[in-house]
Amino acid sequence: MIDKIKELIAEAEAFKAQTKEEVEAFRIKYLGKKGLLNEYFAEFKNVANDQKKEFGQAINTLKNTAQDKVNALKAELENASDNSTSNLDLSRPGEPITIGSRHPISIVKNQIIDIFSNIGFNVSEGPEIEDDWHNFTALNLPEYHPARDMQDTFFIQTNPDILLRTHTSSVQVRYMENNPPPIRTISPGRVYRNEAISARSHCFFHQVEGLYIDKDVSFADLKQTLQYFTTELFGKAKIRLRPSYFPFTEPSAEVDVYWGLETETDYKITKGTGWLEIGGCGMVDPNVLTNCGIDAEEYSGFAFGVGIDRIAMLLHQISDIRLLSENDVRFLEQFKSAL
Ligand code: DAH
Repeated sequence: MIDKIKELIAEAEAFKAQTKEEVEAFRIKYLGKKGLLNEYFAEFKNVANDQKKEFGQAINTLKNTAQDKVNALKAELENASDNSTSNLDLSRPGEPITIGSRHPISIVKNQIIDIFSNIGFNVSEGPEIEDDWHNFTALNLPEYHPARDMQDTFFIQTNPDILLRTHTSSVQVRYMENNPPPIRTISPGRVYRNEAISARSHCFFHQVEGLYIDKDVSFADLKQTLQYFTTELFGKAKIRLRPSYFPFTEPSAEVDVYWGLETETDYKITKGTGWLEIGGCGMVDPNVLTNCGIDAEEYSGFAFGVGIDRIAMLLHQISDIRLLSENDVRFLEQFKSAL
């Protein structure tokens, strides 16, 4: 029997546990009411007298060993659960992080900025809430001028002098008022017009205005600049300048790019012609230069304004302009770009 107890002592010493439940089972097995120790203590009276001493020492050792073990394991498990990292599964794969993408309008805007910055144009900006002078009057569009009807305007009801800018041409006025020539600047931004919303037009959209003022600037410079721009942006070189009218330029032209008719979207956006009108241009009217404090005898220049939305729609085959402002993630996440 003493040998059996010695075996149990060795077993108790070697015992290891991972959970509190295992420790409790161990405690019950050795130290519980009906546990091994109580059995041996009950056995004590039957042990022969000459063996009582050795037997007594053995079961006391077993008792202490079991008790120490229980205390030690309990403390160990207690410490482990205090340590918050112990529950982390470091081998678990990470949660994927969804990375945002740029809006197609920003992508095209940045491309345009890039193309013009390569030929020395800087970027300028102006306010979307504008006054009459900068949006119309300084641009040779005085009050009651019929050409104001070309752009259905949102006015502020309480102050007819304040409006939402109808074009980014207002920024060229601000720029000329504040910077002496030579000037080479582009002004991207949002513009507003009171138009019915459809797949092709919206009450707000985006333009980039371009302005070049120096001595001896000619229409050939304008054409060459637009040719460079469209070739860089579309990879297609064919453009046409259609004579047109804008109060702030003389002569004026509309800029068309030949895009082709390969897809349904091409048909829709080019109205089945394959030609896309991207904006207007012309030689800055001397009246505008004078209004902005620039000597029209000494300086001349060209200006142009192109629509970003339609370009983005063609480049990315977007068939409805409304998608550009609905912020549907399923639409937006399709656009990835370096710019
Ligand atoms: N502001 C004109 C528009 O929104 C576009 C435009 C035409 C801008 C001719 C210009 C220009 O700078 O020279 O329709």
